[in-house]
Amino acid sequence: MEQPLIAWTPQLAVGDPTVDAQHQRLMDLIARITDTHDARDALTMNAAVEYAATHFKAEEQLMNRLGYPAFPDHARLHRQLTQNLLGYVKKVGKGETDLRAFKQFMFKWVRDHIMVEDLKLARFLRTRTTTVER
Ligand SMILES: [Fe+2]
Repeated sequence: MEQPLIAWTPQLAVGDPTVDAQHQRLMDLIARITDTHDARDALTMNAAVEYAATHFKAEEQLMNRLGYPAFPDHARLHRQLTQNLLGYVKKVGKGETDLRAFKQFMFKWVRDHIMVEDLKLARFLRTRTTTVER
């Protein structure tokens, strides 16, 4: 089966410049995970997971500040994804799965999350007329 290309696409745009830039960086980090079996692989994987956590925090602060009604549910999904990623990192460490599988898993989860949950947030952001101060 052909694997999807790991990249951010304009289809994933949320319309908030900070969130979109963070999503692009997250996708870039996921794309950089390689399976060459050297120490850099684990570093890149950990960097991607760490950056995901940083990004979730930023997105949650934005939702909280704007009084986004679905904030608690959205934050719960972030926690779930973080737990799943950490579980996967452990499995990779124990040799129970490889980085190629990890990379596809993380990409699919992040892309699906953006396409469903973050685009709901995007619709909410569009209903606001004022520019958000950062
Ligand atoms: Fe999100």
